[in-house]
Amino acid sequence: MTNVQAVAIHELEQSIGETEFLRIPELVIDAGETVCLQGGNGSGKTTLLRTLMGLVRYNSGDLMVLGNDMRKIGTSSLERLRADSIGFIFQHYRLVPYLSAFDNILLPCYFSAKRRYEAERKSETAAKDAIRLIRKLSLTDPSRLSKNAAQYSAGQQQRFAIARALIGKPEMVLADEPASAMDCKGKKAVYQLLQDECRASGATLICTTHDENGIDGFDRYVNMDTLNQARERENRWSL
Ligand SMILES: Nc1ncnc2c1ncn2[C@@H]1O[C@H](COP(=O)(O)OP(=O)(O)OP(=O)(O)O)[C@@H](O)[C@H]1O
Ligand SMILES: [Mg+2]
Repeated sequence: MTNVQAVAIHELEQSIGETEFLRIPELVIDAGETVCLQGGNGSGKTTLLRTLMGLVRYNSGDLMVLGNDMRKIGTSSLERLRADSIGFIFQHYRLVPYLSAFDNILLPCYFSAKRRYEAERKSETAAKDAIRLIRKLSLTDPSRLSKNAAQYSAGQQQRFAIARALIGKPEMVLADEPASAMDCKGKKAVYQLLQDECRASGATLICTTHDENGIDGFDRYVNMDTLNQARERENRWSL
């Protein structure tokens, strides 16, 4: 059954020792909603996305992600949730450097039968779906994506990370500054593609950015500087 709410946060608090990084009283994101999280450096955007994915644990409060209580979820269920249902674009891409660019994009289809099935349903084979996404990201010659990922430029690597997150229609896409390495035209294309793919599949999109221009079309804009009421503010710069 599809969840009505993709994310539900109530009094979420995350800290290490005395240092509090996240304090979010309330945030609900509906399934299928596209949300743009805007905020300055250190406002907690990456920390929040990592918490939603269960990569970092929180100290107190309630967090539901795609119907899962993230306090109670066990390790194997969490791994399954990530592999099947969440496409994550890391701020620093995190491609596997010794695999080809093409294999990096296909990785989710190896970890998840569900994502492979969806990619094949969309484009006949997972490889064809990777090529479809690559073309939409203005990388016109997929046959040349055989070099190891680390041998590409930052903007190219970011495109591979985007295609990797979108392949196989995950239920939720978490995009951490997905256009940071793009030129102006590239930025617009990235936000457009993320919105188009997520709307077509009904996925929830949560996208962080520093950009103030070219970020049209999201259902909702959330200011992280306001949303996050953590005491730890000395490292923050407001937009
Ligand atoms: N594991 C950690 N150890 C120490 N500090 C941390 C840790 N995780 C997050 N922080 C702190 O939490 C705050 C939020 O960091 P975060 O990376 O989430 O910000 P951000 O909004 O993504 O910033 P940017 O725009 O620069 O990417 C920062 O002050 C950071 O120093
Ligand atoms: Mg960040």
